[in-house]
Amino acid sequence: MKLQSVSLLLSTLSIALSAPSPYRPKPKLVNKYPGLDVLAKRAGLLYFGTAIDNVVLNNSQYISIAHNKSEFGQVTPSNGQKWMYIEPQQGKFNYSMGDAITKPGREAGQMGRCHTFIWHNQLPEWLTAKNWTKPELVKVLENHIRHEARHYYDSCYAWDVVNEAFNDDGTLRETMWLNTIGKSYIELAFKFARKYTSPRTRLYYNDYGIERVNNKSIAVAEMVKYFLKRGVPIDGVGLQAHFTTGRSPSYNETSASIAQYNKLGVEVALTELDVRQALPDSHEQQQAQAKIYADSVKACVDAKDCVGVTVWDFWDPVSWVPETFPGYGDACLWSANFTKKPAYYAISDMLREYS
Ligand code: G3I
Repeated sequence: MKLQSVSLLLSTLSIALSAPSPYRPKPKLVNKYPGLDVLAKRAGLLYFGTAIDNVVLNNSQYISIAHNKSEFGQVTPSNGQKWMYIEPQQGKFNYSMGDAITKPGREAGQMGRCHTFIWHNQLPEWLTAKNWTKPELVKVLENHIRHEARHYYDSCYAWDVVNEAFNDDGTLRETMWLNTIGKSYIELAFKFARKYTSPRTRLYYNDYGIERVNNKSIAVAEMVKYFLKRGVPIDGVGLQAHFTTGRSPSYNETSASIAQYNKLGVEVALTELDVRQALPDSHEQQQAQAKIYADSVKACVDAKDCVGVTVWDFWDPVSWVPETFPGYGDACLWSANFTKKPAYYAISDMLREYS
């Protein structure tokens, strides 16, 4: 072969080798900035999730983050599954608000936490205005759970069956449920939930102020123990984790509270994590907030059986905080202009230590 032909052959070969070949495996793309759910899963959690409110569904920038599976592997409707929206008139069910969050969640491959069958807030007037007899109200309760549980049969990893039934001193909160049905309303709700939800759905009791070992969290633990002893179905306790910078429980306190439920054999989740700031916010407060967020998530990761963390929305403008606590706000991981705050990076850095 002539020298010229050899060099032509070699250059053709080198072009062929350097050209992308359909038979050569593509180099694996390594995502340098995995989202919180990706990192949480690597750290052993089932999910890192967020609550989503219906008032913000027309904001495309918000939605692109809310249903980004890399950031949030789980979603909870903040309002859309509550009684006043689901059964606004007796026996007339409307799932549109809940569906507007659960359906895109399912399409995005996000798990669902469903919230909530029975609460003392956000009840429709037809329910609160009437003086029910006990048998009547039990029937109303069963019918509500039956319909809603069946509608969301495949959408819920967990249901918050009963929400906020205890006072801070560990006594039961006075509500229409307690006053009319008596304390058995809680176990009735769990029995109805077991009867009508998918057998795979975890049934949770959910409350705030139980992230330390205190009168309230001990009362919840006593209830769980009592239920388990008597075969009342309960699978988990949701620690809402609505915290305030400067007054939040420490890593050790949250860990101890989670442990008191795990010891009984039920799982735990942080279901509504946020950390409100006294306004105006400051650099120092943001740093303190970041530590509280990271320590809380770490307490879940390190626990024997804390399955996941849900933030009670990720974007400041839709947080429930300013309306309920005037003078407080900035409680979320993303600020109003959609930038991630130090708290986001603190959680992310903490979770990376487990990868
Ligand atoms: O119904 C009106 C609607 O017609 C209107 O368009 C909208 C505009 O602002 O307001 C609507 O009502 C608001 C509703 O949320 C739906 O967005 C209420 O004013 C508002 O008070 C209500 O607040 C919710 C709150 O529960 C009610 O107590 C928050 O969004 C929701 O995040 C909050 O969630 C609770 C959990 O369920 C249980 N744990 C505590 C947590 C924080 O309070």
